[in-house]
Amino acid sequence: MSETSTNVMTVRGLTKSYGATSVLKGVEFSVARGEVHALLGGNGAGKSTMIKIITGAASKNDGEIHFFDGEGGQRSESEGRAKVAVVHQELALLPHLTVAENIALPHHRKGMGLFRRSAAVRQAFDALRMIDQDSAATSLHRLVGSLSLHEAQMVEIARALSSGAELILLDEPTANLTALETERLFAVLRKLTQENGLSVVFVSHRMKEIRQIASVCTIIRDGRTVVDRQAIRELSDVEIIEKMGQVTASHATEPTRVSAMILEAFAATDSITVQEPGFSLELRPGTILGVAGAPAGPAALIEELTGAAGTKRWTVVRAGWPDRLQSPRRAARLGAGYITGDRAHKGVLHSLPIIDNVMASRRVVRGAAIAGGAEGAECLDLLKALKVKAASVWDLPNTLSGGTQQKLLIARWLGVPSRLLVLEEPTRGVDIGTKREIYQLIRQMAASGTVIVWWSTENAELLEVCDRVVAFDTEGRCAGVMEQDDFSEEKLVTLTGMAA
Ligand SMILES: Nc1ncnc2c1ncn2[C@@H]1O[C@H](COP(=O)(O)OP(=O)(O)O)[C@@H](O)[C@H]1O
Ligand SMILES: [Mg+2]
Repeated sequence: MSETSTNVMTVRGLTKSYGATSVLKGVEFSVARGEVHALLGGNGAGKSTMIKIITGAASKNDGEIHFFDGEGGQRSESEGRAKVAVVHQELALLPHLTVAENIALPHHRKGMGLFRRSAAVRQAFDALRMIDQDSAATSLHRLVGSLSLHEAQMVEIARALSSGAELILLDEPTANLTALETERLFAVLRKLTQENGLSVVFVSHRMKEIRQIASVCTIIRDGRTVVDRQAIRELSDVEIIEKMGQVTASHATEPTRVSAMILEAFAATDSITVQEPGFSLELRPGTILGVAGAPAGPAALIEELTGAAGTKRWTVVRAGWPDRLQSPRRAARLGAGYITGDRAHKGVLHSLPIIDNVMASRRVVRGAAIAGGAEGAECLDLLKALKVKAASVWDLPNTLSGGTQQKLLIARWLGVPSRLLVLEEPTRGVDIGTKREIYQLIRQMAASGTVIVWWSTENAELLEVCDRVVAFDTEGRCAGVMEQDDFSEEKLVTLTGMAA
């Protein structure tokens, strides 16, 4: 771009294979000082893999990574890497330690004597002040486990600052933030780039957001750079999405906006009707309804459906059911099941054995408070059906992988007679084999007559498995409902404003 800008890092011809799978096929990527650079590409394009190689978390097969100092002189790889920090989608903080300890500990591994501890706190304070003058002092001694995701991200950024990072890589940092939190994050990123001269690489799928924060973009498609450092204002949304391989320009049409939606269920037919002005959609027993788009809309709909809502946006009418489900427990008794997306914090009962994790909903539905005698055998059958290998049903869930823990949450509802089952990103962070198994379980539960409402951020899987998809835009409004006949990724991208 600007001829005077010096690069902080340049990646040339980077290649990477996992076994026979070639993931990166010669990627080019360069970041200038003081810029916010959007790294774009569809799911599986190779963005996260490149980031891991830049930070040294993964090895490369071929290619070069050059790091530069402020004068344009080349740094050694280890010097360069020391100036790079990454903020992952899954945060890497220790919940039982304070904010100050999380920020300073990596630099003070040895000899945390009293003096050094106070020096560490001072260092953490200085870093926090670069982010937010006002709250720095009060947040120092809070436990990280008590922070919101947004606050925890700020701690990660502070840790990056205190380590002297000049380049911060943020891999989908806004995926689970509210609009307000995203605004705050952007304010911090702007300050760091404009006032402190840091460089930021930012991965996101939201067009509006990308335009708000980034000046320049690089687009990766199938392991290759298809747009190398281009000013974002020179590219239209459709061009960007097209470069990513998501749509062809001729098909992208303006979505029809829908301001409100009514969800109705009739006990008589046991079907659920989704209505909007001039539109009505009946979900017969066994329908799989996909929910797509940025989190605000799907989250609000799901809160309402599961009885956790404080919102009045949705009118939910269910003949034979109360207007409001009031509580998740009551919802479960009435035949509305829910699998939370917050597996680690709300879903899995970490201190209870596998059997309690699996049998929880059955006990609610059956009105039994504690384990009955036949439960052991029933639990074993469920684990077998789900191909979960556990040494004993009395083991704790943390003896199992993340994907297998997700299967425990599904087991909780498998075979429980329910009219409605709400799934929140059940395949997130799960390997491809387990994903396939989960698709199969979703189909199986639908085949037993349950209406499935499934929120996923992966458009491709929704279009593969669902009968219908309701799309929300980035403002949380319902943008339309797609029927299986006219399923297309391009239409879903247009409706949701999310390019993947
Ligand atoms: N550890 C791994 N082993 C095998 N394949 C992997 C591994 N990590 C990533 N991949 C594959 O590499 C491709 C690119 O993944 P990723 O870099 O995560 O893409 P993006 O972040 O752009 O969505 C995907 O097809 C993914 O399945
Ligand atoms: Mg990724």
